[in-house]
Parts: sequence; structure tokens; C-alpha cells
Amino acid sequence: MTLDFLGTLQRTHMCGELRPAEAGQTVVIMGWVNRRRDHGNLIFLDIRDRSGITQVVLDKELAPEAHARAEAARPEYVVACTGTVRRRDPALVNPNMATGEIEVVAQTLLLLNDAKTPPFSPAEDAIANEEVRLKYRYLDLRRTEMQKNFRVRHEVARAIRNYLSDAGFLEIETPFMTRSTPEGARDYLVPSRVHQGEFYALPQSPQIFKQILMVSGFDKYFQIARCFRDEDLRADRQPEFTQIDLEMTFPQQEIIFKTVEGFLTAAFKAAGVDLLPPFPIMSYDDAIRRYGIDKPDMRLPAMVELTDTLTPELRVTLKIEPELPVLGFIIPSVGELSGSQRKALLSEVRASFGESGLDLLDVARLKTNETFAPLAASIESQLGAGPDDLVTVVTPKLGTPAMWNYDPQWIYKRAGQLRLDLAKKYADKHKLFEQTGTAADYKFLWVTDFPMYEWDEEAKVWNAAHHPFTSPHEDDITSGRLVNDKGAVRALAYDIVLNGTELGSGSIRIHRKDVQAEIFRSLGMTDEEAHERFGFFLDALEYGTPPHGGIALGLDRIVMILAGASSLREVIAFPKTAKAIDLMVDAPTPVSDIQLRDLSLRVIART
Ligand code: AMO
Repeated sequence: MTLDFLGTLQRTHMCGELRPAEAGQTVVIMGWVNRRRDHGNLIFLDIRDRSGITQVVLDKELAPEAHARAEAARPEYVVACTGTVRRRDPALVNPNMATGEIEVVAQTLLLLNDAKTPPFSPAEDAIANEEVRLKYRYLDLRRTEMQKNFRVRHEVARAIRNYLSDAGFLEIETPFMTRSTPEGARDYLVPSRVHQGEFYALPQSPQIFKQILMVSGFDKYFQIARCFRDEDLRADRQPEFTQIDLEMTFPQQEIIFKTVEGFLTAAFKAAGVDLLPPFPIMSYDDAIRRYGIDKPDMRLPAMVELTDTLTPELRVTLKIEPELPVLGFIIPSVGELSGSQRKALLSEVRASFGESGLDLLDVARLKTNETFAPLAASIESQLGAGPDDLVTVVTPKLGTPAMWNYDPQWIYKRAGQLRLDLAKKYADKHKLFEQTGTAADYKFLWVTDFPMYEWDEEAKVWNAAHHPFTSPHEDDITSGRLVNDKGAVRALAYDIVLNGTELGSGSIRIHRKDVQAEIFRSLGMTDEEAHERFGFFLDALEYGTPPHGGIALGLDRIVMILAGASSLREVIAFPKTAKAIDLMVDAPTPVSDIQLRDLSLRVIART
């Protein structure tokens, strides 16, 4: 088969554009053969480009040469077709295609390139094997769904860039080759050839640079910034990802919230969803007490403390730990469970509690449980349980569990985890999280007043819960709690959460050198260590640093949720696998001895 040259032929329309209004026009479309149906004298080619698909008809009588070429065409061949737009017979209209009311009757067909039989067809909706998708990413990205995801990504990024530019933010780029930044994951390192034995670190975020830009008087900065973190990967974590990063001078927390609500509203509007800010605000302590987690999924009802509903006698009979709370929650719309389903669920959950000291009093409807029957009405009304809801009551057993000693929030967190596990278990069957395409699908929440420190039980040290440039509340500094009672210190840190996913984190920063030095000390860093790691930054703080603060949101996560995707890999063009491998280019790879020698590096085989 000989291939054709394009010559001077020019495309007149994209494949998704043609409508009955174009009927009678001669058009030129170009793209890939999505499907081919051969009915002898008539061949139908569906031609696809990024805008959609048009059906082309090749009639042996009308255009014998074009028909002969179409006989040779196969899926994924690249073709150019000149033809006349024709309205389809009403009986043949395809309501599932945007171009379903027309077809193009071909006059000429050029075969611009052939294609091997692909390992999967880009015409298919779902391809099961993700490894094959990633290896042949160029084919995977041809799929309509992927093309849609990247259009959403583009529109979202554009809307955000426009919004922030209009609001007076300057986009300023910061370096990729830098030194370690303070986000707490492992760094990706880049060896220096010129300075043997020395390394740049790729930034985990632009954190220090954006603060320095505030010292430099830029007032409002933003960047759609690539970040690099060597950490364990999950569906919502990639080693390189993109943040919408911003920083402002003299901000109150509310101003930052308003800015983020503004750009998210613009971004969601670009994706066809009208949000209604302001978003609710909840303190970290409330989030833990009511949802058992710092990123509550507000699409599900909160937990309710039922401790006082159980009489002291009943607590004794049921061997409930008197010091600890009893927590109840519902999972909506699960429907009636049979006796055996209920039993199986109870023992499954009890097994997952293991040695924790927690127990589950019941699932399903409490009336079915003899001990609980008298309380059922009260508990169910406190939980707001409807007839189809799964009712769950978590109790701590007598004998304080060890975990309780150093994490007073532990029982809330464990019950909260159970709430999410059960929701996940029933989500698909009972359509708990069904997308309606409206603002109601997107439950945003601000979580504020995070603890400043986290206790690391293994290392027996306090770590910064956000990062060490986060300011504590002013009264935690003046009251001396910073030194005497670290566990009680609250940070001026906030997260924005969407449907149980952390979208972004930020804080009001420390702008005084004395406070910054104190925080480094409180994290167990000596003044020398602090100086070695962040000396340039401590120096900068001495030259008139204004109060400042900011936030960074994960762009990939926003697009993932908007696209209804279950993994960041669906919205990053060339992502890495869970093992941090790029299957298409096959990276990472060993490098040549010459390259290693230039860098004065040697690879030591791990045994
Ligand atoms: P933080 O580390 O919380 O804060 O990151 C902010 C947001 O970035 C996204 N994100 C990720 N997305 C994909 N893959 C990852 N591995 C990944 N890690 C983080 C999340 C997260 O909420 N410099 C501070 C922000 C600040 O204080 O202004 C920072 O980076 O959506």
C-alpha cells in the first residue's frame, strides 16, 4: 500500500464540529480512523480528532478511488477526507454523537499514515490493564475520556491564572535546582558536575522562595508550580505534581480564604459547576471530634457522641470504659441487612479493631438488639437515622487501651476510619457518592487551628505538623505554652478539604527571626543546625520581613475530582506508577560509566 502526501490540502473543520447547518458544504477533515465498517460497495469510516468523531461514507460508485483506499484503511490510520456534508436519514441519526445528524460523503480520501494494530483500541471506553495504558500512553491519551480530562485541566488552570492575575497576583517562577525545602518528604537530588560530591535538591514546594518574595516586596505572588517529593505513592500522590501556590503580604486568614474561594469558583465555573462560597469553616478539634479525621468527607453525616445516652448501669453491664466516649454514626441508604449479613459485618469490624480495645455494639437497626431496644429510638433520633440507614455504635471496652495514653483523640480517629471504610464498602452499590454534575457534588470545608506540633512516639520528638515556618497563635507565644505545653499549641494553619480529600494547605508565617529561631529550637534543632539548613532564610528575616501568609492547592487533585477520576494518573499526561516508574520512557534507568565518572559518583549494588 502506498501512502499519500498531504500536499497543499488544508483542513476546513474539526471532526466534532459538523452539524446539519453545514449540509451541502464541501469540507476537509483529518484525523484517525476510529472504526471501519465494510459493507462491500459502501464503507463507513469514523474519523476522530480531539474534538470528536465524524462518520464518512465511501461509495464505490461515487468515488471509486477513495473507496479503494478505504478498503486498505485500518483503525488508527491517519487520513484526510474531502467530501460533502449530508444530513442523515432520520432513521439513521445517532443521538449519542454530537455529529450524529450528519455524515460526510467522501470525494477523495488520503491515507497519510498507517498504524500497527494497537495493543488496545483508543476507541474503547475502559481499558482494564493500566500498565499497558501507561506503556502506550500516546494511544491511551487519544481516548475521548483522556482528551476531555486534559481539556478540563487546561480550562481550570487558565481560569485560575486569569483570576489571580486580575486580583493583583504576579506569577513568578522559582528554581527547580535548589536546596532542600522543609515539607518533610524525601528529596530528589541532582548531582553537581562542577562541584563534585555536592547536590542540588528538587523543590518539594516553592515554600522558602515565596516567603523570600514577600521579603522582597512583591506583595502578592502565585505560581502554577511543579513540586517533587520522593514519598510512598498512592492514588492521590505522584512524585512530581503541580501546586497552585500563592503568598500574600499583610493577610488575615479570611483574605486568603476569600482568594482561594474566588479562584476555585472561577475554576469550577470553567468546568461547568457553579460553586456557592463562602465554604464552611471548622476547627481541627471539631473535625476530629465529629469526623475523626482532619479532612472530613462532608457528604456523609457526622459522628455523634452518645456517652450520656447510655445509663451508668448499662455501661457497667456492657463493660464499657467509663472514661471514654461512645460514638455513633450512620451510613445512609444502605438498606435492610439480613441477619447473616449483619453478623458477618459485625465480626468483620470486630476483627479489624483487633487488640485496640474498641468494640462495635451493633450495626443495622438497633431495635433488633435486645440490650439496645429501649434506647433505639433515642439513639436513632440523635443520629438522624432514616429507615434505610446503617446505624453503628462504637464503644471502648473496659481497660484503657495503650493508644489512648498518648493520643486522646485516638478513639475518634478509629471510629472515623470505620465510618469511611463502611461508606466505601457500600458506596458503589448504594450510590452514596453519585455525581449529579452540580455544586451539591462538591462539599468544601476549611479546617483551621491545627496543632502546631505532632508527637513522634517512636523517635520521642515533637515534629512540625505543617512546616516549621508556620506561625503559632500569638497567645501561644506570649503565654509560654510554646515552651511548656507544646501539645496544646495551635498553629495559624489551615487546610482546604473537598469530599474528604486534602486539596490544599497553608498558614500565616513567622515573620520575626526570634520566633523562628525559637520554633527551630523547639523542634530539637540546635541554632547551628538551623543555621546550616536555613541560614539564608534566617538572614533574610533580619532585613524587614513583613507579616505574610499563603497556601498551596494540588492542581492535579482538583482536576481529578472534577473529572470524577479515581487516580491522579488520569489527569497527568505522563505519570509514574506506584513504584515511581515512567513505563513509556522507561525511567529511571542506569546511566553510563562516563556520566557517573563526570559526576564522581559510583553505584554500590545493594545486597
Ligand atoms: P503541602 O505539603 O500540604 O503544603 O502541599 C499542598 C498540597 O499539594 C498537594 N500535594 C500533592 N499532590 C499530589 N502528589 C503529591 N505527592 C502531593 N503532595 C502534596 C496536596 C496538598 O494539599 N508549601 C506548603 C503550602 C504552604 O504552606 O503554603 C505545602 O507544600 O493537594
